[in-house]
Amino acid sequence: MPVITCIEDLKRLAERRVPRMFYDYAESGSWTEQTFRENTSDFEKIRLRQRVAVDMEGRSTKSQMIGQDVALPVALAPVGLTGMQHADGEIKAAKAAEKFGVPFTLSTMSICSIEDVAENTEKPFWFQLYAMRDQAYLRRLIDRAKAAKCSALVITLDLQILGQRHKDLKNGLSAPPKMTPKTIANLAWKWRWGMQMLQTKRRGFGNIVGHVDGITDPSSLFAWTAEQFDPKLDWAKIAEIKDMWGGKVILKGILDAEDAKMALKVGADAIVVSNHGGRQLDGAMSSIRMLEPILDAVGGEIEVHLDSGIRSGQDILKAVAMGATGTYIGRSYIYGLGAMGEAGVTAALEVLQKEFDISMALCGQRNIAGLTRDVLLVPEDFAGRWQ
Ligand SMILES: Cc1cc2nc3c(=O)[nH]c(=O)nc-3n(C[C@H](O)[C@H](O)[C@H](O)COP(=O)(O)O)c2cc1C
Repeated sequence: MPVITCIEDLKRLAERRVPRMFYDYAESGSWTEQTFRENTSDFEKIRLRQRVAVDMEGRSTKSQMIGQDVALPVALAPVGLTGMQHADGEIKAAKAAEKFGVPFTLSTMSICSIEDVAENTEKPFWFQLYAMRDQAYLRRLIDRAKAAKCSALVITLDLQILGQRHKDLKNGLSAPPKMTPKTIANLAWKWRWGMQMLQTKRRGFGNIVGHVDGITDPSSLFAWTAEQFDPKLDWAKIAEIKDMWGGKVILKGILDAEDAKMALKVGADAIVVSNHGGRQLDGAMSSIRMLEPILDAVGGEIEVHLDSGIRSGQDILKAVAMGATGTYIGRSYIYGLGAMGEAGVTAALEVLQKEFDISMALCGQRNIAGLTRDVLLVPEDFAGRWQ
């Protein structure tokens, strides 16, 4: 087993093992990728206050997100096509999250179905919903998530229309991959991935195939999906979906103080400050820059989570110290999954926890409660004056 010391190690391994089409799918942002890049580079602008001569014994990284105990203030973000990074990817990632003690969020666009993940795990997971045009399908999806005992519904608001990621178009992204000469040539190098994929039946969109009339083959599926994201989604519809669900609701994709206030008004349990990992509106602000203005806007009346750009335990610490109740990781665990399956997701979580714990100690703190804005050094113009 290779020695893994940081998320970058997992990323390099994933690049070697995952077919180019799916590695690129994860490792890309929309258009120029400015927002994708700034999600990580803006974290680097924040520094930590080194403190000494403080008792560091008895530390804990435990916390809570929407009232649920978490071993680290981190949840696994919903990631479409996770089962193409590694065979049975969603089940593997959910198992790793469950054992580690953090929530797993299953994407609507997953390869393993809601039922499949529920059957192969013990604890409830969270389900991410894309609002779809087909109302009957939307309702069935919500009912299926309820039947699977999902403990929260994460409604994604920043993808009513798909952002363009150049590489996906150039690679002809599809699940399962179309056997073009280019794909076949690439797969020849990814024999480990191929062998594992041959041993599973889960190779299409598990939440869709068999649940929508007329969707049988991958090409009709891609066409159907592209047209299905509901461009008419508005706050009234969000309130309706919330009522249909009847349980805890997390609104994901909030990047503006006004939208955060609307989320508060519809009675969400939490919001996720997110720009979809830089995959939607290129030129939008990084999530970490928007965190403070959004926290100010909601004034502690709603739980505020953050994702986009987290690649280390220090990034988690920075977001939490700034005021986020919790964070989500997308690519950080996807690299782990592509690199080594379930063990890789566990490795990613262990790396993040270790970095978080040691940084917390060196900042002179022993637990989450001690992580306040005081441990950070943030440049005066960090939020910037944008008009
Ligand atoms: C390959 C990929 C697929 C994604 N698919 C979904 C999805 O199906 N639903 C969703 O709400 N967000 C999706 N996201 C966004 C993630 O939930 C999350 O917001 C993002 O990955 C956070 O940024 P990070 O990757 O820098 O941690 C996806 C992200 C990636 C990288």
